[in-house]
Amino acid sequence: MTTTMDKTNQVTVIGLGAMGAVLARLLLGKGYAVTAWNRSREKAQPLVNQGAVFTADLAAAIQASPVIIICVTDYRTTNDLLGTDAISALLAGRLLVQLSTGTPQDARDAAAWAHSKGASYLDGAILATPSQMGRPDTPIFLSGTADAYRQGEPLLKALAGTLLYMGEAAGAAAAWDLSVLSSMFGMMMGFFHGARIMEAEGIPVDALGGMIAEIAPVLGEMVKDTSRDIRQENYGAPESSLEICASTFDLLIRQAGEAGINAEIPTATLQLFNKARTAGYGHERLAAVIKTLRARA
Ligand SMILES: NC(=O)c1ccc[n+]([C@@H]2O[C@H](COP(=O)([O-])OP(=O)(O)OC[C@H]3O[C@@H](n4cnc5c(N)ncnc54)[C@H](OP(=O)(O)O)[C@@H]3O)[C@@H](O)[C@H]2O)c1
Repeated sequence: MTTTMDKTNQVTVIGLGAMGAVLARLLLGKGYAVTAWNRSREKAQPLVNQGAVFTADLAAAIQASPVIIICVTDYRTTNDLLGTDAISALLAGRLLVQLSTGTPQDARDAAAWAHSKGASYLDGAILATPSQMGRPDTPIFLSGTADAYRQGEPLLKALAGTLLYMGEAAGAAAAWDLSVLSSMFGMMMGFFHGARIMEAEGIPVDALGGMIAEIAPVLGEMVKDTSRDIRQENYGAPESSLEICASTFDLLIRQAGEAGINAEIPTATLQLFNKARTAGYGHERLAAVIKTLRARA
């Protein structure tokens, strides 16, 4: 545990929403001296009760610590808060850790801007909910210079046990975050349609949830194999052709018609499969879908 007497253990947290408040609380729990700033003051009170110092003066909040963590709605809000001449001039020599969610371009712009102000910059993407923070298995993707990562690492360990440093390219953390989120929500969309099939057939939906959790490693293998095929441009000699995979969606849409359930999710996916069929990839591996996505819209 660190001590609050140590200057290097001072950290400022800007943004005390659902996530930012938890970040500040975890840092307090590890003995960091936390200065907190939030647009609306009332959210700071529980943290003040736990030992944080609240200031409504953003300049004072930045001057209080060598490390500034910002976790607000988005990068635009960050720019609005930190982008004025008076505030940005205070960032020189400090480490700015951005934990708001954004795009790789947001991250690149933020890194270039922070560096132009003489600040170090670390871009982070939290892959967890507030209640999951602080656990050994909680992941945060991080990217930025190796020096910035080294400086931020001990403090970030208080927030998440699994720090995934993705290298010096500022946009890397956001790229990983969005790619994982896309994979996750893509699967959830498929699950929602599956849930409607279960409901239509009078089978409890949570049984499907349990089944998916059980076969998750198999699904993971499928993603892994397909990603290798894409990387190696290996589309030939399929065990299960793209045409066979696409015909699942013909079936899903027919079943939706028979059961009278919504068919938006399989219909949208079938459009993509049909593009791949039209392009002549039907006899290739499922990975060939990527070729239709690479074509400009
Ligand atoms: N919650 C999650 O599960 C989760 C998971 C991973 C990543 N994240 C990311 O963490 C970031 C914060 O999420 P959250 O869940 O904490 O959101 P939230 O509860 O909605 O909090 C948003 C924060 O941004 C501040 N804010 C918004 N607009 C502002 C403005 N114009 N000026 C000043 N402050 C402003 C809010 O201040 P007020 O309190 O004054 O409104 C609040 O501190 C987001 O980028 C989110 O994507 C969240």
